[in-house]
Amino acid sequence: MKEAINPPKSSTPKAFLLSLILLSLFYLIFLSLQPKNSNSRNRNITINDLRIRPGYTSYDAYINHQLHKTTDPKLRKIWTSRDWDRKIRVFAQFFSQLKQEKLLSNSSKALCVGARMGQEVEALKRVGVNDSIGLDLVPYPPIVIKGDFHHQPFDDKTFDFEFSNVFDHALYPDKFVGEIERTLKPSGICVLHVAVFRRPDKYSANDLYSIEPLKKLFNGSDLIRSRKVDGFGLDTEVVFRKRK
Ligand SMILES: C[S@@+](CC[C@H](N)C(=O)[O-])C[C@H]1O[C@@H](n2cnc3c(N)ncnc32)[C@H](O)[C@@H]1O
Ligand SMILES: *[C@@H]1O[C@H](CO)[C@@H](O)[C@H](O)[C@H]1NC(C)=O
Ligand SMILES: *[C@@H]1O[C@H](CO)[C@@H](O)[C@H](O)[C@H]1NC(C)=O
Ligand SMILES: *[C@@H]1O[C@H](CO)[C@@H](O)[C@H](O)[C@H]1NC(C)=O
Ligand SMILES: *[C@@H]1O[C@H](CO)[C@@H](O)[C@H](O)[C@H]1NC(C)=O
Repeated sequence: MKEAINPPKSSTPKAFLLSLILLSLFYLIFLSLQPKNSNSRNRNITINDLRIRPGYTSYDAYINHQLHKTTDPKLRKIWTSRDWDRKIRVFAQFFSQLKQEKLLSNSSKALCVGARMGQEVEALKRVGVNDSIGLDLVPYPPIVIKGDFHHQPFDDKTFDFEFSNVFDHALYPDKFVGEIERTLKPSGICVLHVAVFRRPDKYSANDLYSIEPLKKLFNGSDLIRSRKVDGFGLDTEVVFRKRK
């Protein structure tokens, strides 16, 4: 009767063995869930609040993914018809305010980075900034010329003003910002519309969770201001001035 109460001594090593097997099983499952490609793990760098999205197997794969949407003929038709004036009006309001703040003027030489069909370029012209051009992987002549924002096809110190709402499409944010700082004239202004509180779409190459990473990346500029805006899914406007 006493023997019935005490469990057999041999059950302890058995339970130990069982938990050991279970533990190693869980460990194996854990290992199998880890990214297999060390390259993709390295790519997933986290500069505090900036995360590069994993999954681009090569630079060509990234570019092709970007082109997939931009070259869609049906979408291009919509962007140049139904969306055309609506977007120009919204961009023109942003640029008018920047003019009032003396961050932009009619005589500014201006560039829009990742301009697609160039509604933002059209908006600049509409508010009087005539010397404006857009840059995109897909050109839309004459207002948008072809080029990669990781290697802008412009000389150093070309522009007084650069606008972009495509920071989230940069696979290499340091190059994206470095190229803007390179092609801006000393004291030139860069205005970015970014998503901090919302997640951009599946064509984004990075996710930004605060403007702190931007302050670090713009290491040749001073932050003038940042404010909340409502700009086509982008919620924050940041303004930098390149140092002299
Ligand atoms: C969300 S769209 C924004 C278009 C435009 N700024 C607007 O608001 O209507 C992103 C644009 O960035 C362009 N893009 C993506 N990666 C690029 C790169 N590496 N160089 C230049 N343009 C790029 C795409 O072709 C696309 O036109
Ligand atoms: C990349 O980083 C994010 C955020 O830290 C994480 O959730 C995700 O699992 C990581 N992906 C890979 C492939 O390491
Ligand atoms: C800038 O251009 C706009 C539009 O053409 C015009 O209405 C405005 O008077 C100009 N501003 C200055 C300061 O020349
Ligand atoms: C800008 O272009 C508009 C329209 O072509 C023109 O009326 C205006 O005089 C131009 N302004 C400047 C400063 O060149
Ligand atoms: C600014 O940052 C870039 C990379 O983002 C780096 O190459 C450069 O050396 C930095 N410049 C200074 C002055 O820290």
